[in-house]
Amino acid sequence: MKVICTEKSQILGTRLAASLGVDIADTRFARFPDGELYLRAGSLDDAMVCVGSVVDSDSLVELLLLLDACAGADTTLVIPYMGYARQDKQFNPGEPVSARAVARALSRGADRVITVNIHEDTVLAHFDAPAASVSLAPDIGALIGTMGCADPLILAPDGGASAFAHAIANVGGWDCDELKKTRLSGDQVRIEPKSIDVAGREAIIVDDIISTGGTLATATGMLYEQGAAAVHAACVHGVLASGAYARLCHAGVRSITASDTIESACSRYSAADRIAAALRPIP
Ligand code: R5P
Repeated sequence: MKVICTEKSQILGTRLAASLGVDIADTRFARFPDGELYLRAGSLDDAMVCVGSVVDSDSLVELLLLLDACAGADTTLVIPYMGYARQDKQFNPGEPVSARAVARALSRGADRVITVNIHEDTVLAHFDAPAASVSLAPDIGALIGTMGCADPLILAPDGGASAFAHAIANVGGWDCDELKKTRLSGDQVRIEPKSIDVAGREAIIVDDIISTGGTLATATGMLYEQGAAAVHAACVHGVLASGAYARLCHAGVRSITASDTIESACSRYSAADRIAAALRPIP
């Protein structure tokens, strides 16, 4: 078995290879003069693990090319972050189910698929190969345990993230709550924990994705108004779009933690061991 990865997943890909105790393929990436992507994989094996987060359109095409380069091998596709997964239904007439389109295109070249904290488990059914999603909740919990927060309060930004937040809080036996948004007027909302007082406490808001960080920034300001001692943010996928990092720092978020499913300066823990463990039981 060998691991091969796209350019934007080279750190996680290499860590995964180390965790599995196998080689990482040396791949050359370039562009044709017209902008088309080119790649050339080094020597391959009968069993390949193709690793590539879909963070933009180029990384999607690169992953398709990588899978094609592995044609003929038994291929496990690892999509650490699957962009387009949030368009998982037709919200308006005429829209595509983008998650389905991406899943179908990618799974043509794969014998099995592993994702990490996929936005909704229903997306897994769109792959034309057996697919599973692993959760990094225990890993976020372990990282929070090293942050030196005394008695942290783990907060889900909404009900949808509540199970994820509880899984994280269980690691350290910490308090857990979800944020509740109350509309006060046309342009005013109040955001506060549903039932636990945040005054004097270090709050850690946890979510699968931090994209624009909009809600998180508003919530942070309000938690400070309610007396929070500090607010931190932790997620699996640090998309950090549209100036999210600066927005969150400006709002007073003390630390922003993400995994290496999207490689950035905020990547403070790795999905590699969790993915390696999941590779074994899938048929
Ligand atoms: C939404 O369902 C996701 O779980 C995240 O809460 C969302 O993607 C975060 O987006 P943003 O950072 O733009 O508020």
